[in-house]
Amino acid sequence: MSENVIVLGTGTGVRVNEREFSALVLRDACRCAKCVNVGTDQRLYDISDLPRHVTITYATCVGETLRVVFAPEGHEGEIPWRRLLARTEPRPKAALWCGDDRPHFARQTAEALEDPAVLKAWLHDFMRAGVAFATDVPCDDGEVARFGERFAFVRGTNYGRVFDVRAVANHDHLAYSDAGLLPHTDNPYRDPVPGVQLLHCLQAAAVGGETVLVDGFAAAEALRRENPEAFALLTNHSVLFRYHDSHCDIQARQALIACDDTGALRRVIYNNRAIQPLDLPDNICDAYLAAYRRFAVMLKDPQWRFGTILKPGDLMMFDNERLLHGRSAYDGAQYARHLQGCYVDRDAIESTARI
Ligand code: OGA
Ligand code: ZN
Repeated sequence: MSENVIVLGTGTGVRVNEREFSALVLRDACRCAKCVNVGTDQRLYDISDLPRHVTITYATCVGETLRVVFAPEGHEGEIPWRRLLARTEPRPKAALWCGDDRPHFARQTAEALEDPAVLKAWLHDFMRAGVAFATDVPCDDGEVARFGERFAFVRGTNYGRVFDVRAVANHDHLAYSDAGLLPHTDNPYRDPVPGVQLLHCLQAAAVGGETVLVDGFAAAEALRRENPEAFALLTNHSVLFRYHDSHCDIQARQALIACDDTGALRRVIYNNRAIQPLDLPDNICDAYLAAYRRFAVMLKDPQWRFGTILKPGDLMMFDNERLLHGRSAYDGAQYARHLQGCYVDRDAIESTARI
């Protein structure tokens, strides 16, 4: 490929595959042993150590590496030019889904997942679909955290390292009742919100308790197509979420939909129980509520819904910044439904999948 690398006139920059990179961009991309620690691949300098104005006195291309001499430093730089050409996206592209048009939802036994290759494929499927299932996970107390710690780190919260989801008397949280829960993302009142959630079924309900999943990214993209103004309102304004009981009062402002700098979806947050009365500027409130309502109606549309009944030993891991999860009401009086859950961070999952 080195024939595609054209060294422009001294001073200006270097052209690689029709793209032109300035002297400063190239200087910043230098990976020579003076700029980057060889053992750790970490940078040894700060941007403020570079001169404000950089020029090129000499440039050539040797295979995959541009060798560039920069003035005024006289620095002899080494720049792997391929790294300049494309934006690096740390995570695989999400495969958006609706109820009956879905990518592969991975399902493996806990034992099979002890094989690193099986685990890697499972994590990749998780990153694409936003959900993956494990079966035959021993129905032991705290097993959900031990499972998560195979590939990530558990993030404890006020609900504990592991939380129990079951109907209890005098509950201070609707999750700990036998009421149905509309599809939602967990803990929007937390900053940062938990990235990934694991739910492990220890005991199923005799009646009810169906698990429902919705791909919030697919619904948000549909809203963007159908009603760009509503989409913009939900991305441009944040709303207050709160959870409080006798031990805590946790609050955070979040936008319901967040995009990255390219406009790609980054996060969807939706929780009808924890959202607080609107406190946006007066001239925005009505339009915002109309947009929020439209999104809520879309999320309830059966076309997005995937339903499943978790059986004892089933474990569901899902992206809490993308998928909404809910459950139908169940009979809490009969032998008790019991799930255990924990939160882990997405970066650890992606790292495990990468190595
Ligand atoms: C929750 C929750 C799901 C369930 O506790 O936040 O969503 O199936 N529970 O009980
Ligand atoms: Zn939940």
